[in-house]
This record gives sequence, C-alpha cells and structure tokens, in this order.
Amino acid sequence: MKKILVLVIIAVTVVSCHKKMTPSATVATAPPVPVVVDSAAVNKMNAMNTTMVAAGQQVYVAKCGKCHGLKDPANYTQVRWVGLVNWMAPKAKATDEEKTQVLAYVQHNAKDAVK
Ligand code: HEC
Repeated sequence: MKKILVLVIIAVTVVSCHKKMTPSATVATAPPVPVVVDSAAVNKMNAMNTTMVAAGQQVYVAKCGKCHGLKDPANYTQVRWVGLVNWMAPKAKATDEEKTQVLAYVQHNAKDAVK
C-alpha cells in the first residue's frame, strides 16, 4: 500500500511538473536584445555626414551646372542618383572624393530621402 502511495505521489508530481513546463516551453521567446546607443558616435557620424553633404553641395554648384542647368536633386531617387553621378562625374572631371561628396549631397536631397 505504501509503494502504491509513493508511486501515486511520483506520478502526480511528474504530471504536474509536465503541465507546468509545456506552456512555458512553447511560449518561450528570445530575450530582448539590448540596444546600445553610443550617442557620441552617432553625433560624430551625423557631423561627418553634414560636412560631406555641405562639401558635396559646393562641388555640385561648381562643377555640375557647366553643361546644363543645375538639376534639382529632388527630381531623382537615391538609387537613380548612383547611376547619374557615376555617369556625370567623369564629365565634370570630379575626383573620387568630390564624386562621393556630390553623391552624399544629391542623395540627401533626393526624391525619396528620409529627413
Ligand atoms: C561636360 C558636360 C557635363 C557636366 C560637367 C555634367 N553633365 Fe550632367 N549631363 C550632361 C549631358 C550631355 C547630359 C544629357 C543631356 C541632358 O540631359 O542635358 C546630362 C544629363 C544630366 C542629368 C539628367 C539625366 C536624365 O536622364 O534625366 C543629370 C541629373 C545630370 N546630368 C547631373 C549631373 C551632375 C550631378 C553633374 C556633376 C557631377 C553633371 N551632370 C555634370 C553633361 C554634363
């Protein structure tokens, strides 16, 4: 009789443990990934980008209006500008650095630019 009682207790324990485990096992989700924002680095990147856009505007005005009027950057998407700048930079005799700057400027003001 004692043996049966012990078996019953074990059985009840196993079943109750099993019931508890099932939901937590299926509902388990990955712990949230902590997002570390290094605001100093973000500020530095923004400052670098602002500098590049400003430099690009100067190059654009100086070199991109010689053969045709200055095209409005908002007339084209950011992706379209990649091809256009690749096409036009040699015509404008822009250096690699100037080309990067012009691209930053026109993309910053492109049709689909997020501001
Ligand atoms: C040596 C002359 C010359 C220079 C300098 C020049 N372009 Fe052009 N560009 C052209 C010609 C030619 C075309 C094609 C005909 C047109 O649209 O006037 C053109 C067309 C374009 C177009 C219109 C393309 C289209 O299909 O709608 C854009 C935008 C453009 N250029 C941007 C620039 C940019 C940016 C620069 C400076 C990096 C630049 N261009 C410098 C000659 C030049």
